[in-house]
Amino acid sequence: MPQPWWRSAVFYQVYVRSFADSDDDGIGDLPGITSRLDYIRDLGVDAIWLTPFYPSPQKDHGYDVSDYFGVNPEYGTLEDFDRLLARAHELRLKVLVDIVPNHTSSQHDWFQAAVSSADNPMRSRYHFADPRPDGSPPNNWTSSFGGPAWSPEPNGKQWYLHLFAPEQPDLNWFDPAVPAEFERILKFWLDRGADGFRIDVAAALFKRQDLADRPYITDRVTGARRFDSTFQIIEQPQLHDVYRRWRQIANGYEPARVLVGEIFEPRRHSKYIVPDQLHMAFALIQQPWDAALWRRSIDASRRALQGPGAEPTWTLANHDVKRPVTRLGGGSTGRARARAALLLLAGLPGQVFLYQGEELGLEEVDVPDERRQDPVFLHSGGKEKGRDGCRVPLPWRKGEPNAGFSTAGPWLPMPEGWGRYAVDVQAAVGGSTLAHFRRTLAERRRLARRLARRLQWLTAPADVLAYSRGPLTVACNFRNRPARLPAPGGLLLGSDPLVSVRHGVLTLPGNSAAWLL
Ligand code: NOJ
Repeated sequence: MPQPWWRSAVFYQVYVRSFADSDDDGIGDLPGITSRLDYIRDLGVDAIWLTPFYPSPQKDHGYDVSDYFGVNPEYGTLEDFDRLLARAHELRLKVLVDIVPNHTSSQHDWFQAAVSSADNPMRSRYHFADPRPDGSPPNNWTSSFGGPAWSPEPNGKQWYLHLFAPEQPDLNWFDPAVPAEFERILKFWLDRGADGFRIDVAAALFKRQDLADRPYITDRVTGARRFDSTFQIIEQPQLHDVYRRWRQIANGYEPARVLVGEIFEPRRHSKYIVPDQLHMAFALIQQPWDAALWRRSIDASRRALQGPGAEPTWTLANHDVKRPVTRLGGGSTGRARARAALLLLAGLPGQVFLYQGEELGLEEVDVPDERRQDPVFLHSGGKEKGRDGCRVPLPWRKGEPNAGFSTAGPWLPMPEGWGRYAVDVQAAVGGSTLAHFRRTLAERRRLARRLARRLQWLTAPADVLAYSRGPLTVACNFRNRPARLPAPGGLLLGSDPLVSVRHGVLTLPGNSAAWLL
């Protein structure tokens, strides 16, 4: 049986605002992406995921959608989207669109109608509730961006629910008009040729209807008072019927389209990654650099998926988390570890999602506070720095203004010396991080058919993880010192130039990894 294309695919996440700017206004756009699709193809990936490019007031950089059927003028037009898609398909790249079904923008027509009068029928598409008698929010739910999950409506007496920013009112999925509208939206993009969707906040669409307060409990270890994490605001059983329906829609196209849920907790994956619902959900590894923790994380994600053919979707980075190089120690140590981590994850059965700039070894940027734009920063009064640091535009050419991204100042400032990571510099150096990513993905693709789905952990020295998959052996050294282990094959790839195999012994310098065949 031929495998569906996504089964062992590598995806590349394009953060539209920061990828490439075609009209020199300092903001990335769709034609910019189209002009750089060759670069993405040459990286050796199979598909791209585009972050939201819909019309939006940009209060959460596109995750506040005011029209699900269009393109934000800053990013281009629908025709630009069609051209991007056509060029991607010529290059044999699939394209996933980001669908944002949990909330709309407060500027969306539905919400504008909903708050226009107390009896507007659109109100049932959102969650409105009376404040408590003392004038406080209807319940104690909190927003992921800080503060209460409720805000008073602009001109009325009630409050509305928003699990994110106040400009992102949550939709009420119990109103049948909402699922019906989203089916229309899905079909709109699939009919244009999109190859599938990444589904934002995929487990949260239905909230518990009793709007009960979250209980506090006393933490047995620390004695601190915190919310009881077993209390589910989200993840109501009705959600599975929605995804069954979406899967039917996806299956109605040839070839079938794919659905990737933004769901991170492995314990949830088993409920969604089943043959009649979603195809994939992220196994995001954010553990500190520790062999035992990584092994546990990998095992937990694999164990969670028992369905036929289901494998985890490995990822180290996206536009919401600190850049892996920085997370793993920063500077040359962090970069060495991120390079090793690529070999460790890309050898596993399953899919891989890369985030733009990982292939350049970019670090988290300490964006000056006065330039920060993330609602997380704004709504926490600056206590949380937020996610701007991983969203700084890509450096393309070293000697040019703004590292070749744009002649105008980019929407987020680039730090001094950003050009040293530029694509043109790294493309010319055999040992660069870019070259390492290209080689790794090329080998992964070349080996794909020969690799067993079964993975076997091998005995290895302390702080080293090693596994085999058919003829491939992967080993990763988490120590800062070198490690030696028997080499069952010849050296195919090393994350560090000093990785070697001699007389049947693999030597891994500190923080390095290898593929042996
Ligand atoms: C997850 C997205 O990745 C993030 O960027 C966004 O802020 C929230 N969902 C809300 O849409």
